[in-house]
Amino acid sequence: MRDYAVNTNDFSFWYGSFQALNGLTLNIPAGKITALIGPSGCGKSTFLKCLNRINERAGQVSHNGSMQVFGHDIYHPSVALPELRKQVGMVFQKPNPLPLSIFENVVFGVKTHMKKVTTAELNAMVESALTRVGLWEDLKDRLSKSALTLSLEKQQRLCIARLLPLKPKLLLLDEPCSALDPAGIEAIEGLIRDLKKDYSIIIVTHSMAQAKRVSDDTIFMYMGELVEVGTTKQVFESPKEPRTAAYIEGRFG
Ligand SMILES: Nc1ncnc2c1ncn2[C@@H]1O[C@H](COP(=O)(O)OP(=O)(O)OP(=O)(O)O)[C@@H](O)[C@H]1O
Ligand SMILES: [Mg+2]
Repeated sequence: MRDYAVNTNDFSFWYGSFQALNGLTLNIPAGKITALIGPSGCGKSTFLKCLNRINERAGQVSHNGSMQVFGHDIYHPSVALPELRKQVGMVFQKPNPLPLSIFENVVFGVKTHMKKVTTAELNAMVESALTRVGLWEDLKDRLSKSALTLSLEKQQRLCIARLLPLKPKLLLLDEPCSALDPAGIEAIEGLIRDLKKDYSIIIVTHSMAQAKRVSDDTIFMYMGELVEVGTTKQVFESPKEPRTAAYIEGRFG
């Protein structure tokens, strides 16, 4: 049987009385990079934030239908939110390291979630996470420097690194390159492709070129609805839905 990172069945979501997602049924394979595209306001970020339930911080929200992450119903009453949020890590548009040292950024989640962890364990976690995102050699001698002194690209790498000690399985990247220059974009895209070896990844992007460069599969949403899903090659080269074709050709959005 094929492994899925996400399965949703007729999933809808409301902020108060405003319906932001409308009856989404889709399956996102594990071990792949899936791009989520669609015009501004179509619900891309909302969908990501339903996957780790951080939407619930927005106040009065509700949902209908089911959403599973690696086969587990994440809206079941028995679900512990801290556990879910460890498993499903998220990176945002604007790099948002904490105003702390590089070291403390990487171990912040672990210190919050785990009671007993030794200094040696923390050191090992920092080396491993920074190595994984390609920052260790560069930063190992200045781990006590503020994370805010790093370039935006390195801040974004650090924001990915700080998820890793929590051993996530699914990484949600919400327009992770939109604050970066072309060299930074290329570097982060390289990192994303490399992370696919170990993680399932969903990336929201407004860049059609980026979706084509990094993703295996693509989901096109429009006004809270799922319009089309397929391999990235199929969606971009022979879209089935006229709205998908119009969007990827730049006729709207
Ligand atoms: N906290 C909130 N409360 C009320 N409505 C919200 C909230 N967050 C988002 N919305 C609304 O839900 C809809 C979907 O928003 P969302 O941010 O998910 O879109 P998006 O596809 O990520 O857009 P963009 O490409 O601009 O980031 C929009 O109409 C938005 O105004
Ligand atoms: Mg968004």
